[in-house]
Amino acid sequence: MELIPALLFWSLFVQHCVANSAWNGFVPPGTDRPASFTPYFVPPGAKGYDSSSPLLHYSGHWADVFSSAYIQKTLRSTSEPGAYMAFTFTGTGIEWFGNEDPRHGISQVYIDGVMVQEVDAWSVIPRKQQRLYWNFQLPAGRHTMKIVNTGKKRNVSKGTYMDVDALVVTLGPPLDRNVYPIQSLDVAAEPASDYPPLFDYASSPPTASQWTLMQEGSTGVSAMQLAVVSNSHALIIDKVEHNPLTISGHPAWAALYNLKTHAVKPLAMQSNSFCAGGTFLSNGTLINIGGNPVVEDHTSAADFGDLDGLQAIRVFEPCDSEDVDDCSIYEHHDRIRTTSPRWYNTVVRISDGSAMIIGGSLKGGWINNVTVNNPTIEYWPPKNIDGSNGLPIYLPFLVDTLNANLFPVAFSLPDGMVFMAANQDAMVYDWQHNTEHRLPQIPNGVRVTYPMAGTALLLPLSPVNNYAPEVLICGGSTVDDKKAGYEITSQDLASAQCSRLLLTDAGIAAGWQVEDMPQARTMLDAILLPTGKVVIVNGAATGISGYGNVIDQIGASNADNPVFTPVLYDPLLPQGRRFSSLGMPTSNIARMYHSVATLTPNGNIMVAGSNPNLDRSEVEYGTEYRVEWLNPPYMIVERPAVVAATLKQLNFGQSIQVNVQLPSSTNDDDVVKVALMDLGFVTHTVHANSRLVYLASTLSDDKQILMITGPPSGNVYPPGPGWLYIVVNDIPSIGFKVMVGDGKGPTVDDGALQNMLTKTEIDQYEKSKKKDKSKAKGGAKCC
Ligand SMILES: *[C@@H]1O[C@H](CO)[C@@H](O)[C@H](O)[C@H]1NC(C)=O
Ligand SMILES: *[C@@H]1O[C@H](CO)[C@@H](O)[C@H](O)[C@H]1NC(C)=O
Ligand SMILES: *[C@@H]1O[C@H](CO)[C@@H](O)[C@H](O)[C@H]1NC(C)=O
Repeated sequence: MELIPALLFWSLFVQHCVANSAWNGFVPPGTDRPASFTPYFVPPGAKGYDSSSPLLHYSGHWADVFSSAYIQKTLRSTSEPGAYMAFTFTGTGIEWFGNEDPRHGISQVYIDGVMVQEVDAWSVIPRKQQRLYWNFQLPAGRHTMKIVNTGKKRNVSKGTYMDVDALVVTLGPPLDRNVYPIQSLDVAAEPASDYPPLFDYASSPPTASQWTLMQEGSTGVSAMQLAVVSNSHALIIDKVEHNPLTISGHPAWAALYNLKTHAVKPLAMQSNSFCAGGTFLSNGTLINIGGNPVVEDHTSAADFGDLDGLQAIRVFEPCDSEDVDDCSIYEHHDRIRTTSPRWYNTVVRISDGSAMIIGGSLKGGWINNVTVNNPTIEYWPPKNIDGSNGLPIYLPFLVDTLNANLFPVAFSLPDGMVFMAANQDAMVYDWQHNTEHRLPQIPNGVRVTYPMAGTALLLPLSPVNNYAPEVLICGGSTVDDKKAGYEITSQDLASAQCSRLLLTDAGIAAGWQVEDMPQARTMLDAILLPTGKVVIVNGAATGISGYGNVIDQIGASNADNPVFTPVLYDPLLPQGRRFSSLGMPTSNIARMYHSVATLTPNGNIMVAGSNPNLDRSEVEYGTEYRVEWLNPPYMIVERPAVVAATLKQLNFGQSIQVNVQLPSSTNDDDVVKVALMDLGFVTHTVHANSRLVYLASTLSDDKQILMITGPPSGNVYPPGPGWLYIVVNDIPSIGFKVMVGDGKGPTVDDGALQNMLTKTEIDQYEKSKKKDKSKAKGGAKCC
């Protein structure tokens, strides 16, 4: 008899946990009762309207339902076909919250009289306060939303219910700050008249100069991290926050974005990926490493059910089909994890196809310091280097570069070593012998890593000069990294400096060569094109990275004066003529902290993100979900094409045959180049692994068959996925994916792996926090 209530209690408990998969038993400060998760969220800059508001007009038969589980304890519900709710508002976005359960049917959403979406609120698991519809891309002004009960339902549904719990309106920028034209950007805009070109144009302007910018698509989760994973999809990873895209009843913080259709699919993530790094391994698996503690009281009042992400290694197995239904990310912290907590670490694939994991901080915060610094590197899979046997390897460089040394710059070099830059310093790291070779300091006191974030690229490697490596680092700031936040302002000027260093004996002896971008920029992104030129987008002209730290914040942003016009950089032109914004369109979307950009297989540039906020905010500078596509002039001309390209293996030094169709205008003396590119893993201005290697190739006499020879070794191109672009006369084909190397996983040193798992603790940060808590008061946790 005694057992029954206990069992009943337990089964209810388990059911509850299943029903609310987003809930992990968060106990709000000051209470003993676990709180249930409430997805409803009104960000700053938005306004909520309850279902009982007189501004919502209901037609047909609606019932009032009262429960403490509803927003303002009320909900309106109808199952009558044709019944509707209409609401007129002024703003740029609208969200509709209501129930999902087994008795719900299909409704239609109309915006300004046009049917925009059918919403099926059926769900086998009943969920309250769900965001059923959202649109943040309305032109500023007055709009009407109408929700109509269609009377239709899916067969399994037990009813045709439709309900309204609350609406949330995004108010949009106040009219006086709304100075940018609200217009379609699919024509190249003239640079605004208050934006004079500050630079000397190249004396001979490019032949075709018309770049275009198009705004299309929404990422659904804020695009903090971005990596193209297949010919059709990009992986987007954010932090735990109130994103509009949901999964299992709670906001998602990762998604797959279809580059062709702009559809987004939420991905389930377990731990908080706030400020993780990532790379593909030699077998095409992508790993996403590090992150943030559980949100609860740290990031948000709401509990998303996330795990401690500081030591996480999130595994995304290769996913090449356009139907991404089976693609997922998994974590098993007990056997797949780092040795120590890492927040803002850089991850690069090295010459043996494994991942080098560099630096970071032991917990979330802002600018690094000696207390929280993690001045070590480690590898995945773990290695035994210099006796390390899987344990972290101390790197003095990461101490000498405090404080502005998070998200260090790192590139694998064609001799197998790794270039690193952090703060004002640079070095070449011989990882096999664990020795540092320091390089000259970056000139003029410019700091180039977080939060004085510059961006960096390894310039194209070519057999013509025996793959001589040259690095380019642009932007950043000279703000003193020992200053406290209250001594720094959002108006401190960023740096316009680009520094180049040729990493040969002669190049190092000659030192860094400096030149200035047309504008000062921090938080910028530099993207390699298959043509070997570099496009610089995004960023701010003043302030530094982060939010909520400096004086004069704009909203919460530590930076201001977003730079809206891209710049093209041609590394082969003489100094003084390399930068040009000729024919470049100007955006009206600020992309500063937490913004990204990448080359796509199609050859254009995907620009997304910007979110200098703790949680989703609609106050300037708000959380940005809109995507822009920057199209180089070659997108609209006849391009070389690869005929019947399927995923191909490209072994080192071996040749593959590719059927090509060159533009009709191709002459016998035109040079055909083959660019093998790693599109990189992009976050916080770090384009990890971004790489262009020109490959040796021969074209058949009939110009239809191209023999392409793989790169000489994993030093020149670390084994792993890449994209091949055929370039004729500076016009690239669409890229197609290849696996460079043998496609096998990196060598696993079982001894080092076992030693690492035995000698280091799992989830160290959460454990230390729980110890602190249980010292204060006892208490068990559910689930
Ligand atoms: C739903 O039921 C209708 C009518 O019985 C049937 O024609 C239809 O095929 C069913 N749809 C599905 C998806 O099962
Ligand atoms: C170091 O950084 C941590 C995390 O941001 C912060 O909590 C701490 O106060 C800092 N310590 C010093 C000495 O600045
Ligand atoms: C690739 O290698 C990694 C590391 O050993 C492993 O976790 C992953 O499952 C491998 N992927 C595939 C597709 O075999």
